[in-house]
Amino acid sequence: MSLLLNRSSFGNPAHAGNVLSRDEAYRLFTDWVKNERLQLHMKQVAHLMKCWAAEKEGLNEADQWRWEMAGLLHDADWDQWPELHCKKIIEELEARNIDPEIIRAIASHGPNHFGVMPETRMDKMLYAFDELSGLTHAYSLMRPEGYTGMELKGIKKRFKEKAFAANVNRDEIIEAMQMAGVELESIMHFIIERQGAVK
Ligand SMILES: [Fe+2]
Ligand SMILES: [Fe+2]
Repeated sequence: MSLLLNRSSFGNPAHAGNVLSRDEAYRLFTDWVKNERLQLHMKQVAHLMKCWAAEKEGLNEADQWRWEMAGLLHDADWDQWPELHCKKIIEELEARNIDPEIIRAIASHGPNHFGVMPETRMDKMLYAFDELSGLTHAYSLMRPEGYTGMELKGIKKRFKEKAFAANVNRDEIIEAMQMAGVELESIMHFIIERQGAVK
C-alpha cells in the first residue's frame, strides 16, 4: 500500500485565507476521529502550532488559527481511513474551499510517506512537531507526574533509546529539524513547556 499523493499543488490560490470556523473544525474533528488517543495527539499538535505561530513567528490571531487548524486536522482521516491518509482530509478541505497553505501543510506532514516536501514555515513546523510531540507524550505517560517536572535531559535520553516508542522514527525527526532550521533541544524544550496544558 502506498500513501504517495503523486501531486504537488493543493487547493486553489483564490481561496487563500479561507478557514473553517472553530466550531466547523471541531465538528469535522469529532465526526471523523473517534479514537481518544489520536484526538489528544491532534489537539496537542494544534496547540504547539498555535503557540509557535504566536510566539516565534509573531503572527496575528487569524494566522495563528490557520496554523492551529493545520495541526488540529492533520491526522483527521487516520482513524477511519488509514489507507487514505492524508488524501481524504486534503480532498475534504479542497471541497470546502479552504486556504491552500493549510492543505499543503497537511499534505507535507510526512514527506517520506506522502511524497510532498515541506516548503513553507507552516509545513516545516508541522513536520517538526508531529513525531516529537508523540514521543514526548509517550514519555509523559510513563512518568508518575506526567508533564509536571519533566526535564529536557529525560526526553533526550528517551530519544536516544531506540526501543522506547519504537514506532517514532528518530531519523525523520532529525530531518524535520534540519528542514525547519531549528535545534532539536529547543523544540523539545518548547514542547515540554506547553504540551501538558492540552487535555
Ligand atoms: Fe499523519
Ligand atoms: Fe500526527
